[in-house]
Amino acid sequence: MLKKSMIFLLGLVFISGGALVAQDFEYIGATKCKMCHNKPATGEQYNKWLAGPHAKAMASLSNEKSKAYAKEHNIADPTKEASCIKCHSTAGGIDAGVNLGIKIEEGVSCESCHGPGSVYKTNVIMKDKAKALQSGLVEQSKEVCEKCHNKENPFHKPFNYAEYAAKIAHPNPAK
Ligand code: HEC
Ligand code: HEC
Ligand code: HEC
Ligand code: HEC
Repeated sequence: MLKKSMIFLLGLVFISGGALVAQDFEYIGATKCKMCHNKPATGEQYNKWLAGPHAKAMASLSNEKSKAYAKEHNIADPTKEASCIKCHSTAGGIDAGVNLGIKIEEGVSCESCHGPGSVYKTNVIMKDKAKALQSGLVEQSKEVCEKCHNKENPFHKPFNYAEYAAKIAHPNPAK
């Protein structure tokens, strides 16, 4: 009995020790950002994302091009294929351990570019850019895009940051 509770205690110390060391920024999904980032006066980023190419990235994995590619390469279903969904879905490219409920179907969403939002998502942190950057927010750059916009994609097109960023722009007009 004593032995059992000792092991239990040791387990607790180990778990809490681990939590102190790990910087756990987790992925929360676009609907959590929508609460604050969908007002027309500040740029309705959620609606812009939803109307853009990234929100439709999972749908492309069942279009004719994907079906033909899958047939040629013995892929049963591109929407379940790890080597496709890692770029076509935020949830498909992260470890289960940092997934706080984001779904594959969401496609490429906010956090693939802006970083995992579980810690920076509060108003107090979001309003302070330095704090947000310490809390998981990622500065935009062409390197962020090139995690996916690269030649590993079978349908890669030459990538130009300025041109591509303009196509998905969602600025805050109030700033
Ligand atoms: C509780 C409200 C709230 C939530 C939830 C929230 N934000 Fe924000 N966010 C703000 C506020 C307020 C600002 C500061 C004003 C601004 O820049 O729009 C901000 C700023 C930003 C900025 C600009 C940072 C800069 O200064 O360059 C980005 C990018 C951003 N948020 C992304 C996100 C993403 C992605 C999510 C979801 C993971 C999210 N936010 C969730 C309120 C929120
Ligand atoms: C997690 C992977 C990922 C990241 C990161 C990413 N993209 Fe994409 N992007 C995609 C996928 C997948 C598509 C194809 C969507 C579709 O049509 O199915 C795409 C499509 C696009 C398109 C449409 C291209 C066309 O042919 O019309 C633009 C523009 C674009 N991305 C811009 C960007 C920019 C700018 C960044 C960085 C700020 C970026 N992307 C970061 C995966 C990503
Ligand atoms: C390295 C990241 C990456 C991988 C891996 C990847 N894709 Fe993509 N995919 C992209 C990006 C980025 C685009 C958008 C390219 C552009 O338009 O500039 C894209 C575009 C596409 C398109 C074109 C959308 C359209 O119809 O115009 C299809 C289809 C597609 N991918 C299918 C697949 C399939 C099937 C797999 C797995 C065998 C796969 N992709 C693996 C990143 C990737
Ligand atoms: C494909 C990458 C990508 C995705 C997906 C994406 N963003 Fe952005 N976002 C950018 C880039 C690039 C900028 C412009 C550069 C910057 O402000 O850092 C930006 C800027 C912003 C800003 C600052 C606007 C300003 O003018 O102050 C906010 C807020 C924001 N994004 C929120 C979101 C939210 C919320 C989502 C999801 C609903 C989202 N973004 C999805 C790449 C992305």
